[in-house]
Amino acid sequence: MTKNQKHTIDMTAGSFTLPLPLFERIDLTPIEKNGESFVTVVGLDQDLATQLTVRSCDKSDTALQSGTSDHKRFCKNSYEEWYKKGRIPFALVDGKGILAALIWFGPEPLPLDSLYKSAGEWDTIAFRSYEPYRGKGLMTPFGSFVLTFFDKHRSGRKLWLETNVDNSAGVRLYEKLGFVARGTRTGNGRFLMTREDSP
Ligand SMILES: CC(C)(COP(=O)(O)OP(=O)(O)OC[C@H]1O[C@@H](n2cnc3c(N)ncnc32)[C@H](O)[C@@H]1OP(=O)(O)O)[C@@H](O)C(=O)NCCC(=O)NCCS
Repeated sequence: MTKNQKHTIDMTAGSFTLPLPLFERIDLTPIEKNGESFVTVVGLDQDLATQLTVRSCDKSDTALQSGTSDHKRFCKNSYEEWYKKGRIPFALVDGKGILAALIWFGPEPLPLDSLYKSAGEWDTIAFRSYEPYRGKGLMTPFGSFVLTFFDKHRSGRKLWLETNVDNSAGVRLYEKLGFVARGTRTGNGRFLMTREDSP
């Protein structure tokens, strides 16, 4: 078994199995916010993957560049390479096809370099929103949608994430979505949060 195979999810979600083939996209439920309609999708088609690369290469997005490793993940390296890890990406797309936000999850053990310990099967999860939609209140409904999907199709598994300690918008969002603060990691000083009880 290769490293990538070890991390692969084989998740049946209704009529389809995840992860989808590379660049396959399935449109799910629309979300209405601020009088605008957004579609939620699972899997990124080539156009959305290209938008993700452009966003990740954007050095003028200082919050994204300082708060994430997306420049390395999707700009220096490729979406195609990343997708082999078996992560499941969800996108929020506006009426013109613009990538408004992204959430992904996938199997990853709880980091060991923290005082917090908890047994179980773990996935990691990550959240991004992009201008002009950052800070517009989209992430709570979009996050709730993805977590409901997670609870249904990844039942019994636990979620962890990490964020910069000064990311107040992120921490507020994660608390609203049911994540609990678990202290910082010694390795990178980032704040660890977990969600272990689905509603
Ligand atoms: C973190 C991130 C995903 C949050 O998304 P967002 O678009 O700002 O989120 P929303 O507008 O939906 O707001 C979510 C909650 O945070 C609150 N919030 C927003 N900005 C805030 C701030 N500066 N301080 C405190 N709370 C804030 C909102 O009020 C909202 O809570 P509410 O519904 O109770 O009002 C987004 O800021 C982002 O992508 N940042 C850059 C990349 C990044 O850091 N990602 C996270 C890496 S861990």
